[in-house]
Amino acid sequence: MTDTDAFSSSIQLTADGRLKHFLTLDGLDRELLTDILDTADSFIEVGERTIKKVPLLRGRTVVNLFFESSTRTRSTFELAAKRLSADVLNLDINTSATSKGETLSDTLLNLEAMASDMFVVRHSQSGAAHFIAETVTPGVAIINAGDGRHAHPTQAMLDMLTIRQHKGGFAGLRVAIVGDILHSRVARSQIRALHTLGAEEVRVIAPATLLPRDVESLGCKVEYDMARGLKDLDVVIMLRLQRERMEGALLPSEREFYKLYGLSQDKLALAKPDCIVMHPGPINRGVEIESAVADGPQSVILNQVTNGIAVRMAVMSMAMSGQVAERSLAATREVQS
Ligand code: CP
Repeated sequence: MTDTDAFSSSIQLTADGRLKHFLTLDGLDRELLTDILDTADSFIEVGERTIKKVPLLRGRTVVNLFFESSTRTRSTFELAAKRLSADVLNLDINTSATSKGETLSDTLLNLEAMASDMFVVRHSQSGAAHFIAETVTPGVAIINAGDGRHAHPTQAMLDMLTIRQHKGGFAGLRVAIVGDILHSRVARSQIRALHTLGAEEVRVIAPATLLPRDVESLGCKVEYDMARGLKDLDVVIMLRLQRERMEGALLPSEREFYKLYGLSQDKLALAKPDCIVMHPGPINRGVEIESAVADGPQSVILNQVTNGIAVRMAVMSMAMSGQVAERSLAATREVQS
């Protein structure tokens, strides 16, 4: 285990290895990730009922704190919390006191004073969720909904659930992630999850300007050419060009990028015939993916969105139960001392 893994597991796991925060996939083993997927599987049925509710978080308060824009993640976290019967507060950052200069720490202190039980946080700064988990009152769970370029662990887990549903498991799978790897927190979390869950090969396909300098350290096969990269592929994950994170011109033009790396029907034909097409969204049609592919029979993009609710229900219920277990352990220790 690396120092990063040890630090991450010490902060997000209880002494007996249960999840209490969900910040990153670093330091989480295959057994725990499989437990998340199995728990999520059990929640899929809840979403198919007429009354889509279970009482696992009844009486709990979940605060959605999104300092960056979001459609899928924010909505599915809200639906997941509501399906677990929690009370949900969506803080609108644009109309909150943050816009009057209040610091993140002060915002959190005030929300904690309202007896919040869980913060779901998206922030442009890498490490924001870790910082909050280290400073928050014991008993409050922090779920990372995406921090800077660092991690988007629930996105990776909903992607893993989608892959497992369509491919039955991870052994022997060849998976490629295509496009803007450099700026992608999603890619980092997906690579980690795929390795932990035992995928045979993880490839990244991108121009050199959109790959991190230390790409080899991610343990991926690097391909600069789509035709070579798509060969014998079971799963292809397309990524959006994250213009908002780019400094300077990393690409000649979107047209050129689409010509070389955009997933068209012609290019997809180079992968296995049953290769599934994934994308975390938002998709940019005609930039990284052709409409006929995004809407085509091999696309599972909307399945990913649906699975986001079950995965987020799993992570929230597991983290809350880890917090409860840790508090009761602490209370027992206090009585004994
Ligand atoms: N995949 C994802 O994080 O999408 P949103 O930015 O819409 O939440």
